[in-house]
This record gives sequence, C-alpha cells and structure tokens, in this order.
Amino acid sequence: MSSLKIAIGSDHAGFRLKEEIIRMLNGQQYKIKDFGTFSEESVDYPDIALEVARGVRDGGFDRGILICGTGIGIGIAANKMQGIRAALCHDTFSAKASREHNDANILTMGERIIGPGLAMDIVKVWLETGFAGGRHGRRVQKIMDIENTGI
Ligand code: RB5
Repeated sequence: MSSLKIAIGSDHAGFRLKEEIIRMLNGQQYKIKDFGTFSEESVDYPDIALEVARGVRDGGFDRGILICGTGIGIGIAANKMQGIRAALCHDTFSAKASREHNDANILTMGERIIGPGLAMDIVKVWLETGFAGGRHGRRVQKIMDIENTGI
C-alpha cells in the first residue's frame, strides 16, 4: 500500500487537526487531496463529508479522512453514501480493527476529543492496516447487501 490516494476534509471544528495530518502525510508516500474547509470560518460538515465520500466512492481515492468537532456528524453523513464505511476511531485498537474487520474506507475523528499526537498514531495505523478478509469479508458483504437491497 505504498501510494494510497487519500481524500481528506474537515469542517471548521476539525480544521487545525486536518492541517496537521496533511503536514504529516505530505512528507510520506501518500497522494493527498484536501477537500477543505480552508479556514476556521463556520461551515456545515455534511457538505465536506459529501465531497470526500464521493471522492472515495467514485473519484479514484483509496481512502478518506474526515475530521469535525467530534467525528460523529461528519461520519454519519459520509455513511449515507453507498459503498462508504466510515469509522469513528479515537484509539489505535479501533483504528486497526476498523480496517482488519470492517474494511473501513473512511476514518473519522473529532478534534475536540483527542490531541494531535494520538490522532497521528491513529492515522498511521489506519493507513498501514489491510483488510483481513475471510469471515470478515462475508460480514462486510452483508453490510453491503443491506445497503443495496434495504433488507
Ligand atoms: C460544529 O460545531 C460541530 O457540531 C461539528 O464539528 C461536529 O462535532 C458534529 O458532529
């Protein structure tokens, strides 16, 4: 997974953490596109979630990272889009499991909840962990079946 394409976005409440994550990832092998927001001026998190989720669903991005104040609203919004599995992770165990077990394609975090040091560790683990497949593949397929058929 050396050249993952990553879509990243935040609302105003996640802006500073987004900027820090971008700074960290820019020095690495990842290709990053910043979908905003670009200042601490108030915006609506569903607008940013939509852009990043769309990028992951059909814009050629392998993964997405979304930050808001709590990581909750922006994740709820992203998960409304077909094919998106956004996981709210504020610890590295969950970050690893969300990739291994759930094949999460978007990571969400809340800048008002965690500090930048932990957030960087979470991002690192989340980007470096692969999907385990097997029985987890069957379960993820069942999630997608619910999404596709409504049952
Ligand atoms: C913005 O005030 C805040 O509601 C938002 O960043 C997020 O925490 C929503 O879930």
